[in-house]
Amino acid sequence: MGAEVDFHSGINQGVAPVTYGQGDRPPRGDYATARADYTCEQNWGAYTAADHELYRRLYERQAAQLPGLACDEFIAAVGELGAPAQIPRFDALSEKLMRATRWEIVAVPGLIPEEAFFALLAQRRFPVTGWIRKPEEFDYVVEPDVFHDLFGHVPLLFNPMFADYMQAYGAGGLKASRLEACEYLARLYWYTVEFGLINTPAGLRAYGAGILSSAGELRHSVQSPQPQRLGFDLERIMRTRYTIDSYQASYFVIDSFQQLFEATAPDFTPIYRRVANAGELAADSRLSTDRVF
Ligand SMILES: [Fe+2]
Repeated sequence: MGAEVDFHSGINQGVAPVTYGQGDRPPRGDYATARADYTCEQNWGAYTAADHELYRRLYERQAAQLPGLACDEFIAAVGELGAPAQIPRFDALSEKLMRATRWEIVAVPGLIPEEAFFALLAQRRFPVTGWIRKPEEFDYVVEPDVFHDLFGHVPLLFNPMFADYMQAYGAGGLKASRLEACEYLARLYWYTVEFGLINTPAGLRAYGAGILSSAGELRHSVQSPQPQRLGFDLERIMRTRYTIDSYQASYFVIDSFQQLFEATAPDFTPIYRRVANAGELAADSRLSTDRVF
């Protein structure tokens, strides 16, 4: 990601589209109507009956899988999304979220540059993609769509501790941009917010949005003998590469959202230096210092 954007240039000029990773994938979403901060209108009236029906099928498939695989905090809050018969209206959902944790959700055309993303999180505004996948992408979609963003991310924003972590992450991201350490923070986001597991008295559970919105990876991440599950270790995570188009080879396990919040509270500046010196690790690497689940 790295579209050049002047964030002070006003609104409604349209912004450069953003694509995933360094690949040649064409951008998805309509960036022509986005404001300079990359937010746009949800345009709820433009969803078709087929769009709503696809959302309902996605929601119901995932909801059925949650018991025993998703963390309690997620299960407790997923109902806040409302009835799955229709794609939720972002403004109505924002009102509920504002009352619960002072967060709101804002529509974006699709992927947005890191700095724009960090800036929104720091303002307790969560960007949600407007478009929904195509029916043939029912089982898998590479780029995050409205289902991933809403179902995967929004329920935990109702959790006060997690909500504070997300804001702190955004603020840290703005600082990392200046230190050219965005890659490290991207890995932290990936292995926590997107693909994190949490250790509970009942066993491992998922809290990462990439897992919770995935038909296959939810069970895979929690129960398959294939991937490795390692204890949360901030610097270890920052060193670990990841892949965007397959199930993860490694998942990192937190003990609590409190642990996550506290581990990421210190100033990362000296941490970035140590991580740079320690070098990158492959996604499936194993260190003698890893705590293995
Ligand atoms: Fe996501």
